[in-house]
Amino acid sequence: MDKKSYEQNGYSNELFNNYRELKELQQIYGAALKQIKTKIEILSEEFAVRYERNPIHHVESRLKSSASIVNKLKAKGCGISVESAKKNLNDIAGVRIVCCYIDDVYAVSEMLLRQSDLRLVKLQDYIKEPNFNGYRSLHLDLEVPVYLSSRTEYVIAEVQIRTVAMDFWASLEHDLRYKSEKKTPEHICAAMVESAREIADIDVKMQALYNEIQKL
Ligand code: GTP
Ligand code: MG
Repeated sequence: MDKKSYEQNGYSNELFNNYRELKELQQIYGAALKQIKTKIEILSEEFAVRYERNPIHHVESRLKSSASIVNKLKAKGCGISVESAKKNLNDIAGVRIVCCYIDDVYAVSEMLLRQSDLRLVKLQDYIKEPNFNGYRSLHLDLEVPVYLSSRTEYVIAEVQIRTVAMDFWASLEHDLRYKSEKKTPEHICAAMVESAREIADIDVKMQALYNEIQKL
């Protein structure tokens, strides 16, 4: 966001004391995103060189907008400030790793967790225990050091790891949810849970096929 848009943006003015504070937050969390993306890129490059396939299908990342930060802080009943955002939100920096198969999700998670400069702050396994609406994914909230000129800042980022199939469901569910402002009717919620279950069955089937092919 440039200075002019910052000055016209009510959400930013609510969150930051000045434009510099916005740029500093973006710089620190942007650096955390870069660190994690580089780690994934290095793993992908290793897979390309050493193995026949890459468990990582693709990677997405985003920084939370100031409007979303303000909305989430309000929803959680937290104060609106940069300190409050850093303390209360783990997903200002978000990375999504989309894998081919279920086993790949856990394998990639372990590859990250064994890296000594990453610290696991919170783990949510929505694959073993899906969300009430059928959402499946493995969430790791990771603390990553960002080395600045005169100090090290420890920044938390949310890493979502899921299969292509889980990503398919989550993307459409997100789209459907945002299409309608109204409360979702019960039969649609039930159909979404059922679709998630069917997709999860296919994930299990694809994993079994993959395992069988490995043995040929
Ligand atoms: P907060 O981070 O404070 O919201 O709580 P939390 O850590 O319990 O949130 P959680 O990790 O469950 O969800 C964080 C992110 O996961 C969301 O911003 C979405 O990207 C994704 N997510 C969680 N639940 C759903 C869901 O039902 N549908 C979709 N499409 N995405 C979801
Ligand atoms: Mg979470």
